[in-house]
Amino acid sequence: NKRQVLTITSDLMPVIQVVYSVNNDEAAGASVEFVVPKDLGDGYVNNKLENYKFRFRRVFDQTAGQEEIFETIAQPVADRVLAGYNGTIFAYGQTNSGKTFTITGGARSYGDRGIIPRTLSYLYQHIIQDSTMVYTTHISYLEIYNNVCYDLLDRQLEACRLEDLPTVTIMHDSEQNIQLRNLSIQQSANEEEALNLLFLGDTHRMTAETLLNKASTRSHCIFTVYLCGRQPGSATVRRSKLHLVDLAGSERVNKMALGGQLLTEAKYINVSLHYLEQVIISLSESRAHIPYRNSLMTSVLRDSLGGNCMTTMISTISVDKTNLKESMSTCRFAQRVALIKNEAVLNEEEDPVLLIARLKRENQSLRDELAMVTGEPRQEQLTQYEIQKLEVQVKDFLEDTDPEATLALGTDLQKIRRCFTLLKVLSLSATQCLPTVLSQLIRDKAPNVDLYSTAR
Ligand SMILES: Nc1ncnc2c1ncn2[C@@H]1O[C@H](COP(=O)(O)OP(=O)(O)OP(=O)(O)O)[C@@H](O)[C@H]1O
Ligand SMILES: [Mg+2]
Repeated sequence: NKRQVLTITSDLMPVIQVVYSVNNDEAAGASVEFVVPKDLGDGYVNNKLENYKFRFRRVFDQTAGQEEIFETIAQPVADRVLAGYNGTIFAYGQTNSGKTFTITGGARSYGDRGIIPRTLSYLYQHIIQDSTMVYTTHISYLEIYNNVCYDLLDRQLEACRLEDLPTVTIMHDSEQNIQLRNLSIQQSANEEEALNLLFLGDTHRMTAETLLNKASTRSHCIFTVYLCGRQPGSATVRRSKLHLVDLAGSERVNKMALGGQLLTEAKYINVSLHYLEQVIISLSESRAHIPYRNSLMTSVLRDSLGGNCMTTMISTISVDKTNLKESMSTCRFAQRVALIKNEAVLNEEEDPVLLIARLKRENQSLRDELAMVTGEPRQEQLTQYEIQKLEVQVKDFLEDTDPEATLALGTDLQKIRRCFTLLKVLSLSATQCLPTVLSQLIRDKAPNVDLYSTAR
């Protein structure tokens, strides 16, 4: 239930790389080890240790491709979501380390598609092939920018600015469940529709050029797939959610030489990541109070952190000696996250409409059985449902050509009386119709009609 993996990206800037080694064949998983040179002046101050080793479920080195990342990380989560469990995959790491590349992908080639498009493709392929279940899928795309939530899937505006997007507010109900008011949840019947929604949301995302990243995503984004599955004819439905989260990059303000809007963004990003860290620390130390409500991001991801969800965290680092401090802090943070225990449960419930119909039927047959066993006439009136059922029974009985056919009414006197009344009404209406039928026949001078026997 707890997983954390690490991806290492090559740096795009001319750098002197830190010496590191990756080992994916350890009995307990994998590890990455940094060898810190003694004379490292501009980065990490290295007084005592030379080697720092961090253990993970899996470490992906620079040669790892998007397909491998998808198969190892996202596919198992997608399988659980299809089976009715909630899932979350989130990417955490310093700016320019490859979070957006991992979650959404790169635009250079088709092979650069990230976890979201690959997961959508996988989910819809499964949905098309599985004839034992009927699925409906919906999508939402939420952005948290400067501590305000925005709906990225708003279709009303064509070329819109972020401030024109609808803002989303968080409401807590009495059981501490959150409701996202004003977040549109769009139906997406197939992969193409889902990809169009992803594209629409991405065009609305807040990006900016920073010193380190030409297209730095300056917000936290949560792409959510809502899945509802049921077997045909069954009243039991499975509802599951998959959050795919691209966090804004942690960054050092002085290192980035930020000012103006970028500085304001960086402060909000750092504050919200600090609150995320507080939640993670409280959870990993099993404290009584977990400060989810301190930030919008932790409120929205409440279930993913220590709740009903299978959560996988991807930490991204950049192996450049100027980033060593950030890489170490990312690894330490990831190891804390791995201490959190989530409890994922199957989200199965009965559809209320189908459930009521089934309970009505059961209730009726139990009443019939009870009346049969006790032999006591019941006091209350027949219900509308019972009357309708009797009318169908009488109709079937009259239409049945089998002379042995019977009307099974049990011992309920009210039902027996009702059936007699029904039969009387039918008989009377048939008799009253007869003169009309006869005159019609005579008028038409219908050949081969034995009028005498018909009248008799
Ligand atoms: N595995 C990779 N292979 C090739 N290019 C990569 C890889 N990872 C990242 N990149 C490239 O590195 C640059 C930075 O990556 P990305 O934008 O994903 O970083 P980020 O962590 O999202 O940064 P920020 O927090 O600033 O948004 C991009 O140009 C991206 O295409
Ligand atoms: Mg990004």
